[in-house]
Amino acid sequence: MSSEQWAVLIEESGKVHVVELTSGTVKIKGLGVFDPQATLDGISIGDTVTIGQKELRRLPPRLPELSKGMLRRAQTISAKDAGFFVARLGIGSGDAVLEAGIGSAGLSLHIARALGGTGIHTTVEPRQEHAEVGLENLRRAKSVWQEFPQHHHVEGRIEDSTDAIKAIHSTYDAIILDLPDHPPAIAAVAECLSKGGRLACYCPVTSQLEAAWEACESAGLQVEWAGELMEREWGRASRGGMRPVNGPFGHTAFLLVAQRL
Ligand SMILES: C[S@@+](CC[C@H](N)C(=O)[O-])C[C@H]1O[C@@H](n2cnc3c(N)ncnc32)[C@H](O)[C@@H]1O
Repeated sequence: MSSEQWAVLIEESGKVHVVELTSGTVKIKGLGVFDPQATLDGISIGDTVTIGQKELRRLPPRLPELSKGMLRRAQTISAKDAGFFVARLGIGSGDAVLEAGIGSAGLSLHIARALGGTGIHTTVEPRQEHAEVGLENLRRAKSVWQEFPQHHHVEGRIEDSTDAIKAIHSTYDAIILDLPDHPPAIAAVAECLSKGGRLACYCPVTSQLEAAWEACESAGLQVEWAGELMEREWGRASRGGMRPVNGPFGHTAFLLVAQRL
């Protein structure tokens, strides 16, 4: 893998741009018109560069930067929930992981990073316009990370794709579903889960959580944990000390983890 193909540039505000190092003048959204290769030639990691009116610092293409600077279309799963899935499902090198839908690949980037060079990652997505964005984000990661799993993508609805999924790998150590309707998917892929493997669902609303719980039980899986994670950021107060920063205390989704015993 080469880390020369893409550059990560961060604005002082924290906004991240992931720029392909092509030669010749191109227009890059948020940065304007410039020649990436010529402009960034000789700019090392940690150095700053001025592009148009913006001063940017070059950083290495690590997971947080690629996630912040990723192309977006469908709503993404962020580090808070992705980190929980990776830890609670025990995802690591050598595992086989099944994921649907890929959407913008927000979660996929975390899974690929945890799998490293020896895992198998199968993604499923029926909407081509979503898959295009998600697969492009994975392509960037593959070209800049030293290790990347064996990735397979299946086009279609997961509940209609079990033959293709099993042809890639007979069973999976972990399955993660971020779908509008989990029950048909759970019924279809529960048999693809290895014994001791875990299936997780990302459910923005409670009706989805309840439906996923019931579908897991009907499919013979044991629900291990369901709930939500709350994240509260703290910062420095203007008169000294630390306190929670002002801003919305948001909701992402309810999460469910079930195991095949
Ligand atoms: C919210 S997005 C997933 C976002 C993704 N987890 C991320 O972090 O970027 C949900 C995706 O599921 C896809 N989808 C909907 N029904 C599906 C099905 N039956 N099988 C597979 N994917 C499906 C949608 O097209 C959409 O791209």
